[in-house]
Amino acid sequence: MSKKKLLIFASGKGTNFEAIVKYFKNSPDILIELLSDKKDAPVLNLAKKYNIKSYFVQFEDIIKFLKDKNYDLYILSGFMRILPEEVINKGKFLNIHPSILPLYKGKDAIKRAFKDKKETGVTIHYVTKEVDSGGIIIQKKVDSYKTLEELEEKIHNLEHKIYPKIIENELNKKNILIIGSGAREHVLTEKIKQSEFLNKLYLANPNDGFKNSGEIIEYKDYEELAQISKSLGVDYLVVGPENPMAEGIVDIFLKKGIKAFGCDKYFSQLESKKSFAKELMQKFNIKTAPYITVNKIDEIDNALKNFSSPPVIKADGLCMGKGVYIPDSFHSAKEIIIEFLKGKFNDASKKVILEKRLYGDEFSLFSLYDGKNLVHFPYLKDYKKEFDNNKGKNTGGMGSYAPHKIKSDLSDYKINLLKMLNSINAYYKGIVYSGLIETDEGVYVLEYNVRFGDPEIQSLMQLIENDFIEIIEKTVNSKLNELDLKIKNDTAYTVIMASKGYPDNPKKGAEIKNIQEVKEKHGVKIYYSGVKITDDKFYASGGRVLSVTKTGKNALSDIYNAICEIEYKDKKYRHDIGD
Ligand code: GLY
Repeated sequence: MSKKKLLIFASGKGTNFEAIVKYFKNSPDILIELLSDKKDAPVLNLAKKYNIKSYFVQFEDIIKFLKDKNYDLYILSGFMRILPEEVINKGKFLNIHPSILPLYKGKDAIKRAFKDKKETGVTIHYVTKEVDSGGIIIQKKVDSYKTLEELEEKIHNLEHKIYPKIIENELNKKNILIIGSGAREHVLTEKIKQSEFLNKLYLANPNDGFKNSGEIIEYKDYEELAQISKSLGVDYLVVGPENPMAEGIVDIFLKKGIKAFGCDKYFSQLESKKSFAKELMQKFNIKTAPYITVNKIDEIDNALKNFSSPPVIKADGLCMGKGVYIPDSFHSAKEIIIEFLKGKFNDASKKVILEKRLYGDEFSLFSLYDGKNLVHFPYLKDYKKEFDNNKGKNTGGMGSYAPHKIKSDLSDYKINLLKMLNSINAYYKGIVYSGLIETDEGVYVLEYNVRFGDPEIQSLMQLIENDFIEIIEKTVNSKLNELDLKIKNDTAYTVIMASKGYPDNPKKGAEIKNIQEVKEKHGVKIYYSGVKITDDKFYASGGRVLSVTKTGKNALSDIYNAICEIEYKDKKYRHDIGD
């Protein structure tokens, strides 16, 4: 991993500072700097002695000083003032306190513990706006002591021993929070858990099938989730679905100094507002079907006159993947548009896009975007229709495989996509999902999403050889130009097991049997979406229930054998995935 910068805040003698500097003296990848708010603090002399760059900054000027600077970690070490929230929200702060918190918060902690003859020690914790109150990383007690001097010495020795090691761990290992409850988040969880750089994994809203893979954070709103994440030292928020981004979760986390793998509310319009994406595509010469927007019922007839065959109808806003209709006559097109405008999907369908229908091979391109650079994954195939041979209604996806081959060369598209993304002054460090179609006239963009697609990611993830935290770090730190993406030379398949009635009214509540058995017998992976677990028994609780995934030569037959043996009433799946 690349060079790490840490800023130590100290205003006293600097014994912890010295211990940290000595510990990292042979680590060329770690750069230490010192900030003191006392001009005559002895720690400044120590910095000189060890050739450490130091800054004297008046307390009131710290926020100004930090404005254009970025460190990987901020360390409090005998810094005797309470930092304002604005400073703490610059990033991750650690503090060391000479007591077993929550006992003896604040000043003179050792003396007070001595006076009370209490067992005491050292706590290292994350810093929040409340004094000595952030999440605890480690606590160590000292052995028995007789005098105050002996206690002080033992505590300081303990501090010098454990603080550098904790700092090293915090620099190298990351705390990650994943939000989302589907199979996409299950596969992300699995991949991130394999990372050698993972410290702690937190989950927000996981389904029962993978909730034991991390520590669950309960919260009432994103403000509270961000507050808790700050106190737990979360380094990166990984946003699975689009809705939290459209609701501004990334904006809220960024304000707390927590980096996010995803995009802010403004940029999320690329997915949440079809007209926003369409206008951008036109501006940047990206091929997309000609379209017209309709806002009022009395505009429909005139709008339809622009099409020689019934157009595709799309709600402008987010509709959980249900806002696209492909009518077979102008009459039904008009009926659908009226339903949309009357609020079928509330405000999301009060504006409607009519788009020329295109014919060809639909596929997806997922790209990592870091605000400057794009790195593309192989093309992917997603099966959107509910029944075999692409019949029936549109779903979130009934199966996938990776990689998918196309005839066209997308080099120009990739250049224009980068130009388009770079033209927007907002936060986007995550996945750009291009929904594409290869027609006789070339490749057109059908839609953009600002997240991984499900079930494409279940297949793609089997082929990614890189450590996923490395991918996250390079993305959020705008270093994708340094990423050497490694993709296995193989094919991965995923078949979705859904419930009858999906996508409109899926049946729920059936017990699912044989999951464990088929995993072992057929070597398949199972990712959970609509499942509940009660008394160790699995029950179907949503439209899409399980993703069955495997890579390699016999993958498809193993997947389908597994599907036949997984039992639940009303199971529904496509039989032609990968054909
Ligand atoms: N598989 C399509 C989507 O995730 O939107």
